Amino acid sequence: MTTDRSAQLAQHFPAFEDIPADYRLAEQVHQRHSLVGGRLIEWNGASKTVLSPVCARDPSTGDVRQVEIGSYPVMGEAESDAALDAAVAAYANGRGEWPTMAVADRIACMQAFVRGMAQQRELIVNLIMWEIGKSLADSRKEFDRTVEYIQATIQALKDLDNASSRFEIAEGTIGQIRRTPLGVVLCMGPYNYPLNETFATLIPALLMGNTVVFKPPQYGTLLFHPLLEAFRSAFPAGVINTIYAPGAVVVPRLLASGKVNVLALIGSSKVADHLKKQHPKSHRLRAILGLDAKNAAIILPDADIELTVKECLLGALSFNGQRCTALKMLIVHRSIVDRFVQRFTEELGKLKVGMPWESGVSITPLPGLHRTAYMTEALEDAKAKGARIVNEGGGEFCQTLFHPAVVYPVSEGMKLYREEQFGPLVPVMPFDDVETALDYVITSDHGQQVSIFGADPGQIGALVDPLVNQVCRVNINCQCQRGPDVFPFAGRKDSAEGTLSVSDALRAFSIRSMVAAKQTEQAKELLNAIVQDHKSSFINTGFIL
Ligand code: G3H
Repeated sequence: MTTDRSAQLAQHFPAFEDIPADYRLAEQVHQRHSLVGGRLIEWNGASKTVLSPVCARDPSTGDVRQVEIGSYPVMGEAESDAALDAAVAAYANGRGEWPTMAVADRIACMQAFVRGMAQQRELIVNLIMWEIGKSLADSRKEFDRTVEYIQATIQALKDLDNASSRFEIAEGTIGQIRRTPLGVVLCMGPYNYPLNETFATLIPALLMGNTVVFKPPQYGTLLFHPLLEAFRSAFPAGVINTIYAPGAVVVPRLLASGKVNVLALIGSSKVADHLKKQHPKSHRLRAILGLDAKNAAIILPDADIELTVKECLLGALSFNGQRCTALKMLIVHRSIVDRFVQRFTEELGKLKVGMPWESGVSITPLPGLHRTAYMTEALEDAKAKGARIVNEGGGEFCQTLFHPAVVYPVSEGMKLYREEQFGPLVPVMPFDDVETALDYVITSDHGQQVSIFGADPGQIGALVDPLVNQVCRVNINCQCQRGPDVFPFAGRKDSAEGTLSVSDALRAFSIRSMVAAKQTEQAKELLNAIVQDHKSSFINTGFIL
C-alpha cells in the first residue's frame, strides 16, 4: 500500500533528465582493471553492476528505480592470491625497495600520490555522492579532510623520524631506536567513509614502509578507480595491490595463507573475530580494527534542551545515522523526556529530505533496499514490544529514501535497545536514576564513546569517572565524533582494537627496532663512519625538514 508520505518521498526522486547536469556522472564507470605488482591488469571476467542509492523516477509510469552507475570486477581466489603474492614480493622479507627506502623518499612518493589524487577531486567527490548517497557538501568534506589527514600524517612522520635521528646512551650501551614496518597489510575500509576511513589506515601503513593488499568496500568501490593510476605511478611496484572480490570468498583465504601481518579492518566485530581466527599463527597477526558501536547520550535533568536537541540531531542523523560514532541511543531523564522528545521531533521535522546534491540536504537515500528493510523490521519489533514512533511520517519510506523515526520508549528486549541500527532510527529511553543510564553503558557489548548533557559539575564529574573506564571518549554537552584527527580514536569491548589518530596510526603500523653497541671507542668510530658515509638508512642522524 502506498501511503501519502511514501508518495511524497517518491517525489524527491527526480526523473533522470531532471538531474542537474553539474552533478551527473559524465558517464557510467565500468572499472575493468586491478593494480597488481605495479601493473594495471585488465579483467575480462564477470562484473558486478553498481546501483546508486539515488533512484530516478519514470515520469510516464511513476516507477522509481535505483540508477545504474557502473560496474566492477568480480574476481576470485587466483586474483586475490596474485595480489597477495605481489605485496609479499615487494616487501621481500623487509629487504624490498619500499621497506628499506629512506623515510624522506617514502614521503616524496606519498606527496606525488597526493598530487595525483588532487587532480581527481571532482570525479571522486561525485562518485562518493553517487555510490553511497552522501550529500555533496559532506562528500567534498570527506575528500578534503582526507587530504589534510595525509598531510598531517606526513608531518607526524617527520616529527617521529626526526626524534629518532639520534643515538641514546644508557648503562654503557649506545642505541638507536626507530620504528620499522610490520610487513604485508590487508586493508579494508567501510562504506560510510569509504575514502577517509580506508585512508586512515592505508596511508600510515604505506608511510611506515609496509606493503598493502587493498580491498575496497562493497559500496564505495568505483571511487577508487580514478586513483589506481596515481597509486601505480607514485609507488614502487607491488607496494599497493587491489582486489575486487566477494570478501567471504577471498578474505579468510588471504589470512589463512599466514602471509598477512596486519589486518586493518573498519567493519563488524563478527567479521573481525572470524578473520583473526583464520591466521595459522595468530600471534603473528596484528589487528587494527574499527568495529561496531552503540554510542549513548545521557541527558540529565538540568541539560540545556536547545543545545542538547541540536547536538543529538547531528549526532543521531548526520549522514542518516550511518556513522560509527553516531548517537544510537538517547537516554533521557524522565522529568524532561516529554519536552526533549517534542523539541527533538520539531527540529527533526525541519531537516531537508532530498537528493545528495541539493543544497542544505540532511536526509538522503540509503545504500540499498536491504537497509530500508532492516529499519522497518527494527521499527516493527519495537512497536510490537510497546514503543511508538513519535514523529510524523517516521519510518515511512520509498525505495531507498527512509524518513527518520524517533522511537519511544525503547526498552530491554527490543532490537533497537542493543543492536547497532546504523541508520535513521532514533531510540529514546527514559531513566529515573542515573545508575540505569550507567548500567546501560556498562552492560553494552560496545565501548566506543558516550555523550553527557547536563550542567551540574558534581554530577557530570561523578559520571565521567566510571564512563572513561567503559568507553574511550566521553563528550560533554556535544555529540560523539572522531575528530579532530589528532585526538586518539579508539574503543573498548566489541568497538575497536588499537588506537587511530594522526600519530597513533603510525605507531599502529610499525614496531620499534633498534641497533645497540657497547659504548667503546671502537663502536663509536664504527657508528660515526656509518653515519658520515651514509652506509645505512636506519643508522643515521639526518633531519627531515
Ligand atoms: O563511521 C565512523 C567515523 O569514523 C566517524 O567519523 O565522527 O568524524 O563522523 P566522524
